[in-house]
Order: sequence, then C-alpha cells, then structure tokens
Amino acid sequence: MPNRKILVTSALPYANGPIHIGHLVEYLQTDIWVRFQKQRGNLCYYVCADDTHGTPIMLRADLEGISPEQLIAHVGKDHQADFNEFGVAFDNYHSTHSQENKALSSLIYERLRDAGHITSRTITQGYDPVKKMFLSDRFIKGDCPKCGAADQYGDGCEVCGSTYSPTELKNAVSAISGAKPVPKDSVHYFFNLENFNDMLREWTTTAGHLQPEVSNKLAEWLAGGLNQWDISRDAPYFGFEIPDAPGKYFYVWLDAPIGYMASFKNLCDKQGLDFDEFWRKDSDAELYHFIGKDIIYFHALFWPAMLSGADFRAPSAIFAHGFLTVNGEKMSKSRGTFITARTYLNHLNPEYLRYYFAAKLSAGIDDIDLNFDDFSQRVNSDLVGKVVNIASRCSGFISKRFANRLSENCSEPELFADFVNVNETIAELYETREFAKAMREIMALADKANAYIDDKKPWLLAKEDGKDQELHGVCSMGLNLFRVLTTYLKPVLPVLVKEAEQFLNIAPQSWANEILFLGDHPINDFQPLMTRVEPDKITAIIEDSKENLEKTSNNTNVELKAKKFEAIADTIQIDDFAKLDLRIAKIIKAESVPEADKLLKLTVDIGDETRTVFAGIKSAYKPEELEGRLTLVLANLAPRKMRFGLSEGMVLAAGPGGTDIFVLSPDDGAVAGMRVK
Ligand code: 2FM
Ligand code: ZN
Repeated sequence: MPNRKILVTSALPYANGPIHIGHLVEYLQTDIWVRFQKQRGNLCYYVCADDTHGTPIMLRADLEGISPEQLIAHVGKDHQADFNEFGVAFDNYHSTHSQENKALSSLIYERLRDAGHITSRTITQGYDPVKKMFLSDRFIKGDCPKCGAADQYGDGCEVCGSTYSPTELKNAVSAISGAKPVPKDSVHYFFNLENFNDMLREWTTTAGHLQPEVSNKLAEWLAGGLNQWDISRDAPYFGFEIPDAPGKYFYVWLDAPIGYMASFKNLCDKQGLDFDEFWRKDSDAELYHFIGKDIIYFHALFWPAMLSGADFRAPSAIFAHGFLTVNGEKMSKSRGTFITARTYLNHLNPEYLRYYFAAKLSAGIDDIDLNFDDFSQRVNSDLVGKVVNIASRCSGFISKRFANRLSENCSEPELFADFVNVNETIAELYETREFAKAMREIMALADKANAYIDDKKPWLLAKEDGKDQELHGVCSMGLNLFRVLTTYLKPVLPVLVKEAEQFLNIAPQSWANEILFLGDHPINDFQPLMTRVEPDKITAIIEDSKENLEKTSNNTNVELKAKKFEAIADTIQIDDFAKLDLRIAKIIKAESVPEADKLLKLTVDIGDETRTVFAGIKSAYKPEELEGRLTLVLANLAPRKMRFGLSEGMVLAAGPGGTDIFVLSPDDGAVAGMRVK
C-alpha cells in the first residue's frame, strides 16, 4: 500500500485581482493531482496563500482609497470563495502578510546573511519626486535609447529587443505620476545567487526535479552566468521590513515562495503536525510546486538556492504548465474571453471545466486551448452521453423491477475484471500528470460499458417473459461498471462522484485495486447527475465578461490601465505624416528567435516585395498564431542591423508589453500592399 508523505503547492495568486480561468488551469491541475494522491491513501497536504506584497498592491489600494490590509482582506475572501466553488480543496489557505511568513522570511534571510550569501551596496535608481518613491523598471516608461521606440519599459525595449538600465531611457517618465524621475542613491541588499552555481547545476539536472524542456532552459540560463539578485526595496513598500535594515523591505518575490512554508506552518500549528518533518534538510517527505512556465526562474533557481543556503530541503520537483488560450487566442478583455472564475460560476457547472481541463492537460509545458465548441461537445458526449448515461440506462429497471436491489452475482466477471485491472495504468497516468491520457482510458471504458448494454438490450429483455434474471444481471453489471468509472473519475469530478456514491449507496471510494462487485446490494433512486451544457450560458459568459471589463476597468492592474491622453510627441503637420509609408502586410512566416527573449522574426508580404521584420512581440504571440494574418507595417523605416539580422520595417502594435501586446489588423477587405493613410 502506498504510504507517502507529500506536500503540494500551487503558485500564490496576487491579491490585487480576481481569479480567472487562466489561473484555474493550475489550481485544477494541482487539485486533481492532490485528490488522486489522497484517494490512493497517501498522506498529502495541499497549501496555498494570497501573494499580498509589492508595489502594484500598494498602488491599487491607494487608487481605491483603502489600506493595503483592507484590500488584501477582501480580495482574499473572493479568492477563497472562487476556489471553494471550483472544488479546489486546499488543506490550508493563508496569506503572505502573516506572522508565520514574517518569521520565516526573517529566519531565512538571517541564515543566508550569516552564511555570507547577502551583500549590500549603493545603487542609483529613478525616484518619483511627486509620489516620493523609488521606481522599479516596470514603473518607468520612455523612449528606447537604441532604436527610439516610444513607451518602452525601463528594463528593455520590446521593439528592438535591447536591454538597458532605466537611467538610459530617453524622455523617461514615472508611469505612476507622469513626473520626470530623478536619479537617487540607495543601499540595496543582494542575494549572491552565484554562490549556488554548482548546487544549481546539479539540482537542475538531476532527473525528476524538472521537466526535460524546463531543465534545458535552465541550462541556458546557467551557461549565461548567474547574477546577484536584488532582494530589497525602499519605503514606501507594502511588505516586511528587513530585520537589520530599517526602511528597507523584502522584495515581494523573496517572501512569496516562503509563503508556501508559512501556510504549511500555519496548518501545522492548527493541527499539531510536525513542520520540520517536511522541511528539514534530510526530510523524507516529498515537496512539489505546481507553477506556470513564466515563473520558472524564481522557482528553479532562486528558491532551491535560498532553501539550500538557509539549511532547508530543496523541492522534490517543480511541475510547470503552459498558459491558457481561449478559442485559439490569448484571453482578451475586449473579446469577452478574459473570464473570471466568478463569471463562469454564475452560469456553468464548475465540474464541466474541471473535466475539460483534465481532458486537455499533459505533463508538458505546452499551452492549452479552451475552445467553447469543443468544450460543450466533450462534456455533452463524454460525461452526459457516456458516463452518466450508463447509470440512467440501468437504474430505471433496477428500481421498477427489482426494488432497487442489485443482483447477487456478477454476470460478466471477465468484463468486470477488465475494468478493475486497468486501475494501475490509470493511476500511473494521474501520477505522471498525463490527465488527458487518463481521461481517454476512462472514456474508452465508458464506451465499452455502453457497448455491453447495447449488446444486451435490457429494454427488450424487459418485455420478454422469463428474462427477469438476465435483465437483473445486465443492469446490475452496468451499474457496477459505472461504479468503477466513478472511482477513476473521482479526482476530477468530486461532486458528481459524491452524488453517484449516494445513489449507489456506498462509502466514499478509495482507489480501485480492491474493488469488489456490489452484489445483492440496495441502491437509491437515480437522480440525473449532470445535464448538458446549454449554449446560451456560454454566450452569457462572454457577454458578461465584456461588461465586466467596462465595470471594472478602473479596478484592474494599475500598470495595465489605458492612460488618459497625454501627448507623447510634438504636433506634426500632415506633410510629416505623409512621410510614413504605412502598408497593409501579410505575415507569411513567423519564427521565434531562440536567442532573444522578446523577438519574433516575421516575413511579411507588403505588396510587391517580401521583407524581414523583427518584432518584440514574443511574450504575447506564438508564431503560428500570426502566420496568414494581415497587419500594418511601417515600410520606409531605415533598415536596422540587429544581432539576429536586418530588420526592414516595423510591425505596428499597441499595449504596455508582456502578454498585453496587440498587433494591429485592418478590417476585412484590405489586401497586402495597400497604402494606409
Ligand atoms: O506570478 C504570480 O502570480 C506570483 N504571485 C506567484 C507567486 S508563487 C510563489 F512563489 F509565491
Ligand atoms: Zn528599441
């Protein structure tokens, strides 16, 4: 019998915005895995917390006219209600703004400092003289010092791909107040990550710690050399003050992962568990972090190094996953596909989404797509049409003809054994996070059960004299097969399976290796366990998501709000505009530039010629999403020699950066080469 001790976490969501369906990929993936482990009989704890510190949270509270504490309290409540209704069953949900986290952050910092892993030095940073605060790179905007592109962040240009320090930006302004930042000195504290070079080389290449594609990415980063990590921020900052440095605060990413420990500590204190048994260096417990692929750097480099330097154990593994796209495109507020957990819950059964994500998830880091037609089709055909249908086809006869009692003997022992015997195969697929494959195995069994019923035709047996015993045997068999399926589906569909257990009149099912045939067993009346997806509910979700955008636009991430109009350049005359040769272009080919984090190489048809253009849009688009699309290109921009080749134009796009870059498209009817004027 398995008897492992396992601690599992999902990434801590920021406490300045709602949970959305993109987040849910991770929480549902983790929850399914944890439920599986518990069903197997392992001792498994699943902890999480709100990630409450940092500048965006401080600014957001400011904007709402409340204290950061008030903000994180109400956001925390909303998060927990959302998780709860989606069946995400944390053993503990805490906050990084907690005394456990403060104590553990100080402890880890002090151990690192005492072991010589912390240094301090004075750095010069942009300072907002109006808001009276230092500005991190994200909060300084200006023109790129290399290519002149406007509205670039302080750390790098999304157009030409160059990186620089914020002091090099031209016409720099504070993204918060619009004031011109002034350079100001301040002492900062650094974690000497390079001290852990050897440890990290070994840890990141030890089999099982990371997925192969993640391990390869890490090898690239390690080859590029590790830098010191700035772990301090100046007041005003919402966070924990550094013990021996008044006025200096831990950077949010220092105390966020420690929040995993803090949440577990809080659970230990409530339940009398042994914290050290899970966190000491020689612990035999397993520790897994489920995360998105965007935060691998923090979890696979900083975090194991911090733990090791502070004399704690390192994770057993980090499981990264891809992002969610909706109907093939990244989630978009204007298209109504930026769907919050709450909007979904207002219209649809959360178990539909649990099943759909399970049916798409693998152990890799590829993005997954929520396509609403596919979603309805899968839920309707697999869950309603296959699984629940088995029970509804058999239960009526058992109720009407056999007083809700199953037959004594199993009429098809081999078929029953076939169903039970695949349990280890399915268990292995859950264990290795190959949920899509597990769902396929389970649905193949459901097909088999339905084929058995089709073959035996209980509805005809019911009309023939002397066939009562056979009818009883077939329907009892059908319900027994249904029972095995629900055991396998239990990690994914806890509510449906609980109702099925009540219908079958059985105790909560553990994993299946000892499943026995339910013979001569009383059951309860059948109630429909799941209904089909109603298409108008999907339309309503999209419509509500568009409305939410309007209602909450002044509530969203401070950084991402569209700024009110402020001129960013001098007035020009129409003749100046005429100097721009803007063309409709067709993207013929889009390729990733492996050496550049931000760049895609685009081959565009601008009418009678083909050009190569490098665009800083990698963080927002996958190459395959762009091929075949029309866009706008500035065709007479002087060619620029870049590290990766010659860029012969510029693709036009809007947005602040990151995943929020939006390539412009013309209306239907435009063709490549048309002049834009
Ligand atoms: O990226 C994020 O959303 C972070 N709030 C995740 C933190 S995970 C952990 F390290 F705390
Ligand atoms: Zn540039």
